[in-house]
Amino acid sequence: MESLFKKEWAAIERDETRPRRLRNYVRIPFAEIKRRTLAQDPEFVRQTVNSLYAGDVLVLQGAYPTGFIEDIKVKAFEWGKQRPSSFHKMLGRTPDFHRIIDESLAHKYSMESIRHMYYFFRWNDDPLGLMDQVYDKWRVIKLIGGFDFDQYENNTPDDGVVDRIIIAHYPSGTGELETHSDPYKFQRTIMGTKMSIRGIDYQEGGLYFVDDKGNEVDIENNIDLGDMYLSYATVLHGVRTIDPGQPTDWNSIKGRWFLGLYSAASDVPKDRHTGYGVTKSEYLGKAYENSATPTTVG
Ligand SMILES: [Fe+2]
Repeated sequence: MESLFKKEWAAIERDETRPRRLRNYVRIPFAEIKRRTLAQDPEFVRQTVNSLYAGDVLVLQGAYPTGFIEDIKVKAFEWGKQRPSSFHKMLGRTPDFHRIIDESLAHKYSMESIRHMYYFFRWNDDPLGLMDQVYDKWRVIKLIGGFDFDQYENNTPDDGVVDRIIIAHYPSGTGELETHSDPYKFQRTIMGTKMSIRGIDYQEGGLYFVDDKGNEVDIENNIDLGDMYLSYATVLHGVRTIDPGQPTDWNSIKGRWFLGLYSAASDVPKDRHTGYGVTKSEYLGKAYENSATPTTVG
């Protein structure tokens, strides 16, 4: 079947008009998004693509059962404790692995962060039992992004682009992620799921998006446990330090947890398409308007 999403993206997307700033939040139950996406309801297609390209964050309510999210968090934490922190390029059949990215490693990435990262690939044995739940959402979001529902799903690094599931733990005391723009070529939107609650698992800090006035807008309170959030990948966002001033204990489950889905360039192609960090002086207090002029299909 022809993808109306693909057509709508082709009509609107230009290198010079990719959105950089948050416009609004839009909250929609995931079940409704799934139903209308699979039906390719033309009005929904037009609205969703235009909304994302205008800089909106879509909060997909109740995407995952909260019990599943709580369970996965504990399982990832325990799985990590049973094996050493390590790093593997996406070459061949990369194993699942986890890596503590502390101050000494923070600068080695295209965007600076301090966090404990867990990486899972579909060609491995799914040690946490994630894949069925994850792909139930991912296939829908791939359609929204203008891709085939199963695009990249069975790829391995030799194909150049692979599906990579990330669980990130931002520990109390130092966990953070600098403001950045994410890669947009193989997935138009970022796809995050909230796995912890401020006020319970940590007290301060969290996810923000940069708005048209150059403010960092905290959106933790607009998202519930198990909700997914989408934004066009180039809308600037980051994670403000979790519980600054507290001691950091990498062996404690405390802090902010997040599940992210990425169709990413593997390490096989030269000139990997990646995201990049943005310094605060480039946007703080600096107004900027997303320049898209929405167009419609047909
Ligand atoms: Fe990001």
